[in-house]
Amino acid sequence: MNIQSDFSLKPYNTFGIDAKAKYFARFETEAELQEVLQSPELAGLEKLILGGGSNILFTKDFDGVVLYNQIKGLEIVDEDEETAFLKAGAGEAWHDVVLFALKQELGGLENLSLIPGTVGAAPLQNIGAYGVELKDVFHELEAVELETGEPYIFDLEACRFGYRDSVFKNEAKGKFVVTSVTMRLQKHHTLNTSYGAIKDVLQEMKVAAPTIQDVSVAVCAIRQSKLPDPKEIGNAGSFFKNPEIPLLQFEQLKQTYPSIPAYPVSDLTVKVPAGWLIEQCGWKGKVIENYGVHKSQALVLVNYGGANGGEIQALAHEIIQSVKARFGIELHPEVNIL
Ligand code: FAD
Ligand code: EPU
Repeated sequence: MNIQSDFSLKPYNTFGIDAKAKYFARFETEAELQEVLQSPELAGLEKLILGGGSNILFTKDFDGVVLYNQIKGLEIVDEDEETAFLKAGAGEAWHDVVLFALKQELGGLENLSLIPGTVGAAPLQNIGAYGVELKDVFHELEAVELETGEPYIFDLEACRFGYRDSVFKNEAKGKFVVTSVTMRLQKHHTLNTSYGAIKDVLQEMKVAAPTIQDVSVAVCAIRQSKLPDPKEIGNAGSFFKNPEIPLLQFEQLKQTYPSIPAYPVSDLTVKVPAGWLIEQCGWKGKVIENYGVHKSQALVLVNYGGANGGEIQALAHEIIQSVKARFGIELHPEVNIL
């Protein structure tokens, strides 16, 4: 266990915000985590679990203990002819798990290639991309309750996954440290290339019979062409969720805005890309001093260096207001604002 005080979080969040933590405790095993939780020095202080910091906006210093998860480990814990169960420590980088699965010829994670962050945070918002979500491959997770130090297992049902949502963003918010996630992967692969751009890239790659590795390469290429690399420009991916609206409201909007895009969710609702709404309001590529809205993806707010979290939060608020005023649609942040 290693505890530091008055600790700069700047290298630990992909927005690159220079916030400080009162205490910063790094743990590599469950035993070390228990030590931190039982430490009398840290008792009663607010706790924040931190992975890769790729979905967090710090708007102020954190006056408590940051628990920095470094629990590693990748293991196939069970298998049969069809399936392998891959258990990953919560501190593993998500993309390393994808690469491990690809190397073992296990399918299911390829569409989720190159998503930043750690395994432990993946269930929080049920990470998703290119037609696949974590819930599609999820088996179970292990977690420790912060208040009691008791171990728990959450199965698929208990996680109550939704679009960018889970029990850990609702009733169980801030109550558990995820320590491992086990995924159910396929030995005989069913590819998901329903997202149009994947098919286009595979065609450009001249791949006639794509493999899971080809799909991963295509997804990485699409992502790299659209999303800014946090090592170059501070950001946390999509700042807002794509809003789900009633079909009736969509049909009315379509009369005024014939090009408005949408994806069906149910018979009665559709999802509208927030990036389109934000772009229509004139925000795309906007630069305000050292922060703004990315030039090729209006859903991504960026810190060009030195901005503070309050400034980015205020920009998000202005965007929400302008989208609401023009389209009557309320945007909700995907990023965890602290
Ligand atoms: P952090 O930012 O460290 O934490 C996020 C939240 O999870 C916080 O509330 C934190 O307290 C909590 N948390 C972290 N670890 C644990 C744990 N072990 N136990 C309990 N709670 C924990 N997301 C997508 O879904 N799809 C995408 O395509 C996608 N693309 C992105 C692209 C870019 C360029 C960036 C920067 C981000 C993108 N994201 C995407 C968002 C982000 O990568 C995911 O949300 C990721 O799962 C966050 O992981 P993290 O370890 O960085 O979490
Ligand atoms: N669009 C615009 N202008 C923009 C951006 C997007 O008009 O500036 C419109 C276009 O019509 C485009 C559509 O939005 O076709 C969808 O854009 P894109 O394919 O880039 O996806 P997204 O809806 O903006 C979502 C996720 C991403 C995920 C991609 C791929 C959310 C909030 N975001 O983005 O996840 O990688 O799909 O599946 O659901 C993240 O969560 O951080 C994230 C990056």
